[in-house]
Amino acid sequence: MRWARHFNTPAKPLGKDGRKISGCVEHIELSKNTAAEGIVLLKNENNLLPLKSKKIVLLGKASEEYVKGGGGSGDVYCKYCTSLYDAFKADGGVEIYEGLHVFYQENLKDQRKKHRDPGMTVEPELSDAQLKAASEFSDTAILSINRYSGEGWDRACNIPGKELHMENIEVDVWGGEDGFRAMSKEVFPKGDFYLTAQEEALVAAAEKNFKNVIVLLNVGGIVDTSWFAENKNISSVLFLGQGGMEGAVAAVEILLGKKNPSGKLTDTFARRLEDYPSTDTFHDFAGGVEYQDDIFVGYRYFETIPGKKNCVVYPFGYGLSYTDFDISLAGQNDGGDKIAFTVKVTNTGKVAGKEVVQLYYSAPDGKLTKPNMILGGFRKTPELKPGESCFVVVDIVKNEMASYDDEGAVKKSAWVLEKGDYKFFYGNSVRNVKETGTPFSVPETKVVLQLTEQLKPRKLTKRLLADGTYKTLETSEYEKIERPEIFKKAEVLEGVIPSVRGLPHKSMVQRLHNPTKHLEDVYDGKVTLDEFMAQLSTEDMVWLLGGQPNTGTANTFGIGNNFDYDIPNIMTADGPAGIRIMPWFEQYTTAWPCATTLACTWNEEVVEKIGQAVAKEVKENNCGIYLAPGMNIHRSPLCGRNFEYYSEDPLIAGHMASAAVKGIQSQGIAATPKHFAFNNKETNRKQSDSIVSERAAREIYLKSFEYMVKNSEPWAIMSSYNIVNGQHTSECKDLLTNILRGEWGYKGIVMTDWWTRAEQWREVKAGNDVKMACGYPEQLLEALNDGRLSIDEVKTSVRRVLEMILKIE
Ligand code: BGC
Repeated sequence: MRWARHFNTPAKPLGKDGRKISGCVEHIELSKNTAAEGIVLLKNENNLLPLKSKKIVLLGKASEEYVKGGGGSGDVYCKYCTSLYDAFKADGGVEIYEGLHVFYQENLKDQRKKHRDPGMTVEPELSDAQLKAASEFSDTAILSINRYSGEGWDRACNIPGKELHMENIEVDVWGGEDGFRAMSKEVFPKGDFYLTAQEEALVAAAEKNFKNVIVLLNVGGIVDTSWFAENKNISSVLFLGQGGMEGAVAAVEILLGKKNPSGKLTDTFARRLEDYPSTDTFHDFAGGVEYQDDIFVGYRYFETIPGKKNCVVYPFGYGLSYTDFDISLAGQNDGGDKIAFTVKVTNTGKVAGKEVVQLYYSAPDGKLTKPNMILGGFRKTPELKPGESCFVVVDIVKNEMASYDDEGAVKKSAWVLEKGDYKFFYGNSVRNVKETGTPFSVPETKVVLQLTEQLKPRKLTKRLLADGTYKTLETSEYEKIERPEIFKKAEVLEGVIPSVRGLPHKSMVQRLHNPTKHLEDVYDGKVTLDEFMAQLSTEDMVWLLGGQPNTGTANTFGIGNNFDYDIPNIMTADGPAGIRIMPWFEQYTTAWPCATTLACTWNEEVVEKIGQAVAKEVKENNCGIYLAPGMNIHRSPLCGRNFEYYSEDPLIAGHMASAAVKGIQSQGIAATPKHFAFNNKETNRKQSDSIVSERAAREIYLKSFEYMVKNSEPWAIMSSYNIVNGQHTSECKDLLTNILRGEWGYKGIVMTDWWTRAEQWREVKAGNDVKMACGYPEQLLEALNDGRLSIDEVKTSVRRVLEMILKIE
């Protein structure tokens, strides 16, 4: 049987010679190597790194508790997670001061009793005697700082007037006042962007007692970097990200010079939280966020808005190496639709390494406001030996440089290339670039694609312009939707387990001889999908549009499930940093680096390889739909789920997600890029309205999804919890039908995020095919009966569900 795995609980190992592939050594090795490639060297004064000292002191409890990734559904149950201390010990190349190891272990044991996860612990104070003894052992200290965040709660913001107010906020299971949010408030009174008082004391002690101080940041998002950037007493800093179960081993390989760092930041690291324009309105009101920063997200803001360049400590795309590279332009060829840039990279230093060639463009000023710099393409080189060169080619599609005109300044609802010179810059960060010297000149403004207005904002009061001023916008009222009382009751809707559908008794003999067409017959070409669907009753169909009970080790429910027609119940599994299944089965899987760390590799090939590997683990555990990649834009450092997403920039996010989807689906497993779209805040996430202009939607928040859909054709997409411009995304026809399918040609299914606060009939009508984690077939039948929903709408969604199952192996 084609779907035998999906009908059976025993998970047959898929590795060679009957070995399990989940969490196998080869996968862990790939995870570690990728973590190393994602590490960003932020600072290296006097080439302190790679380490020369044979004796070191590990400062900070973070050296004993590596944070492999974030929490919530993005967590992974792996067999172990190596600490920095253990990684150094296993390597054996340097001697470590043991006195602090015992101290930190004891301290953390106590903190664990209060259920503090790694990264949510308090930095213990070191006594003068401890520091003296440590500094007598070595003059070199590695000071580690870690952070943890997760779904359902955001990182705390303690700027006066900008804090989170809990009134009118539906408390999420993860982030309630007795959950992580409360813990975070207690551990990080200033908010976890900044160092705590205890961490500041540790930094001061390190500066005072050690000649050489190296800092490691084991964090999944943007944090304050100003405390070390200009501090002469801190020589070297590595941004480790959250690198999965062996991220600390990867760090040791980099520290010891066994590997050369080649990661680059995929976000702008600014001095203060308030430097990000998104901070201003992040917690303004419980019911939503106004995206007043408009298209000026991340470096588009800092590189454009007057006076903001100075706020940047480490720019987008930045990252050092243990070697040096010379980057020069070898050619620029206008090839009709595209311009191809050939860039020569030479390793001019003393050790082998990789470099990332980044190509930016600057569109001319015109009727539409524009950012100064936009990433147009990138390419990572292979490893180059000292003295070795290579050529890389980066293409920019001309029409991709168009801007979206949502106001009619040039042509309403159209992508337009305004007249003037489009200038190009190549280099290895948004700041370290040279102009190519040959602009692309557009003599007359032209419309490259005429669309129709979608996602009209009604509550956006103003939008930022390139000169730093805001344009005031007219607002209007949303259409009122009357919802049944039940949709206001979290306690009735949250966490509902799908019911098991009763099917009439049938004997085995009847089943063997009945004339039923099975789904496999469609796969085998014996019947058409139309013929197959013709046998399904309306009830059969509406049941296919909701989540199904768990089987085996799955804990995020299934899709399909009709035994009469042998439609398998295909299990879903989270995502994105590895497959997350029921922990008590002890089916340990590989914990991969988090998405941000993957993106920091700027290496699509490696991300595709991980996609393949993780999909094998999904299959081995009898699941068929992987709930990944996560690909929302890092709009604000405060978003609790940024670690699950790639970048502030849609191009790199789109490329990474696309690579992941290709890798996953090459194994016959459905990828489910999520959360479509505008899921940039976790607080009140099921009721939070993302109020955004159509232009920012299309140029920033949807752009990554558009690239991914067109380049990798995912079989499934997950709509998000949030509301966009007054409509739940899962009920938003503009988004799911007009844009996603109509404009981009998407063919797969859309499933909701788990237990949305929207009505299933409205979701199906909008183009959201499946309600997860459980559907409400009776509500769909009612809607069919009274005409709110048509049978054709139901059939369209059922067809998509079956088409997806047919692709799964
Ligand atoms: C998350 C999704 C996840 C789903 C299933 C939701 O809470 O938002 O990202 O895939 O749960 O675990």
